[in-house]
Amino acid sequence: MFRRVFPAVALLCVLAAGTAVAQDVVENKTEAPSREPDVIFVPTPREVVAKMLELARVTKDDLVYDLGCGDGRIVIMAARKYGCRAVGFDIDPERIKESRANVAKAGVGHLVKIQQQDIFELDLSPASVVTLYLLPSLNVKLIPQLEKLKPGSRIVSHAFDMRGVKPDKVVRFQSKKRNRTYTIYLWTAPLKKIDESPQEPE
Ligand SMILES: C[S@@+](CC[C@H](N)C(=O)[O-])C[C@H]1O[C@@H](n2cnc3c(N)ncnc32)[C@H](O)[C@@H]1O
Repeated sequence: MFRRVFPAVALLCVLAAGTAVAQDVVENKTEAPSREPDVIFVPTPREVVAKMLELARVTKDDLVYDLGCGDGRIVIMAARKYGCRAVGFDIDPERIKESRANVAKAGVGHLVKIQQQDIFELDLSPASVVTLYLLPSLNVKLIPQLEKLKPGSRIVSHAFDMRGVKPDKVVRFQSKKRNRTYTIYLWTAPLKKIDESPQEPE
């Protein structure tokens, strides 16, 4: 009896393990880069990340999107510190691998997802907080997508403004550790557009 049942059970175990591994590979797969990144990876210092999340008044009920997530530090800190859900998007497969490894190491895989995607092809409407460390021109290019955020959603940007949109706050954060000042911008949806067309002389 044992001799007949054991091989069948062993085969089922191997098949189940194979399926689990295949599932894992599908969920963690990275694709060849669709195109070059619009900006290279430069990490935001962790003390600045903490300030950005504080300025955005993140709570456990938020869904944070980091557009161009690099090594995943912003989404990881959001989940760890506030217990909220977060998604990091990056176009670079190397960054995706690094972020996913960091998410696993930090033990926040139940809250954080990392997706390989071009940020300019994203629907941002599910997010309640969007974090940026890109370039001024890229922030401006994101305006049509940011305009689809639900009222009350917050956007924070490290270093760069968004020409044509009035920020609610501009905070200068003085790092004693690095002897440097960092600027962080905060906007709240709906965006307050500024008319920048040249004025007719009176
Ligand atoms: C300056 S780093 C910021 C990383 C992280 N958000 C932080 O503040 O530490 C910008 C990131 O954006 C990614 N990136 C550039 N263009 C992108 C695009 N079109 N779609 C998705 N990610 C992009 C880069 O690969 C890089 O990791």
